[in-house]
Amino acid sequence: MATPQTFPELPLFDLRLEPQDLEAVAATLRSGWLTLGPRTAEFEEAFAAHLGSRHAIALSSCTAALHLAYLTAGVGPGDEVIVPSFTFVATAAAALYCGATPVFAEIVSRKTPSLDPEDVERRITPRTKAVCVVHYAGYAAAADRLKELCDAKGIALIEDVAHAPSASLGGRKLGTWGLSGAFSFFSNKVLSVGEGGLLCTDSDEVAALARSLRSHSMTSGTWDRHTGRTDTYDVTALGYNYRLDEPRAALLLSRLNRLEAEITRRRELTLRYRELLAEVEGIIVPFEDADVASSSCYVLPIMIEEDGRQAQVSSRLRERGIQTSIFYPSIHHFSAYRERFPDVSLPVTELASRTELTLPFYPHMSGADQDRVAQALAEAVAE
Ligand SMILES: Cc1ncc(COP(=O)(O)O)c(C=O)c1O
Repeated sequence: MATPQTFPELPLFDLRLEPQDLEAVAATLRSGWLTLGPRTAEFEEAFAAHLGSRHAIALSSCTAALHLAYLTAGVGPGDEVIVPSFTFVATAAAALYCGATPVFAEIVSRKTPSLDPEDVERRITPRTKAVCVVHYAGYAAAADRLKELCDAKGIALIEDVAHAPSASLGGRKLGTWGLSGAFSFFSNKVLSVGEGGLLCTDSDEVAALARSLRSHSMTSGTWDRHTGRTDTYDVTALGYNYRLDEPRAALLLSRLNRLEAEITRRRELTLRYRELLAEVEGIIVPFEDADVASSSCYVLPIMIEEDGRQAQVSSRLRERGIQTSIFYPSIHHFSAYRERFPDVSLPVTELASRTELTLPFYPHMSGADQDRVAQALAEAVAE
């Protein structure tokens, strides 16, 4: 018999859909057209306008978007892509898909766990083809400095914006600083629909190539044939099936209408969490001085000051029904990566990975639940 599943009382993330979301999906299911088609095109247009980007290409995941971002930047076998190790594995894996080598660079500090431009500069070699900056937790990394550096060296800057839809730096939306930006609509993200992703770019060339690679580099799609535009196609290169389907595009369109309101709520909750956590001894709150108004406030990470306490604190919180997670274990310590990259040493990243805990956080979280998390955390750290 299957073990009954128990869910934490306070989960890391809790997704709430509204009746209009369900209706949008139901209407799409009733329409009789379920894959890449008019709703996807409508979502792409709306998301591009929201970002202020020339092009938005909807995809099956952010992992697919990163793969296409690297490919369309010309990354191939023998090239190097500089990435943080303090990120989700997809940022690095996508470089390996291209036959390239991910070169791991440091974060600035536990207070600012974003890619360190100075360390990036030190790691540039004649083989460096791209740098991928991750806007961790929804806070802008130094995309401006990295852009200057990459432009000066003739290297492509790619942004992993999985955490940061609608966030900005100097009034410019994240994802639009580099050659292209890769967004995620995975189920725990700020704009979540289960699975999904998107590549944005101002480059007509990158956009045309990404659109083609998304659907096996076919010269026409099923929708074109369905609508009688053409009845045949050629395949011009090795492509992929990275298409988004219409029900998820409809859900994205519906949820996009509430994105700003939900992020506003996330910002309020982040400020409230910051006040509560300022009273907790023995922790560091990353980005505590950063302006929430330019962040998407995706998650609420904390770092335990003392090394070696992560498992104990997390298990104390779990006993009290509070789920936590580690955002992120260092990629270079995963077994598949340790084998390939045995000599990587990134002390700041490694300490961050050993001491980080991500707390429950979602737009409809109550103040009482935040109080409960902060209180339990204070007690667990003090033990
Ligand atoms: C920083 C980062 N990059 C990439 C991804 C991959 O996103 P997806 O699950 O949409 O492929 C994620 C998702 O967890 C992420 O957090």
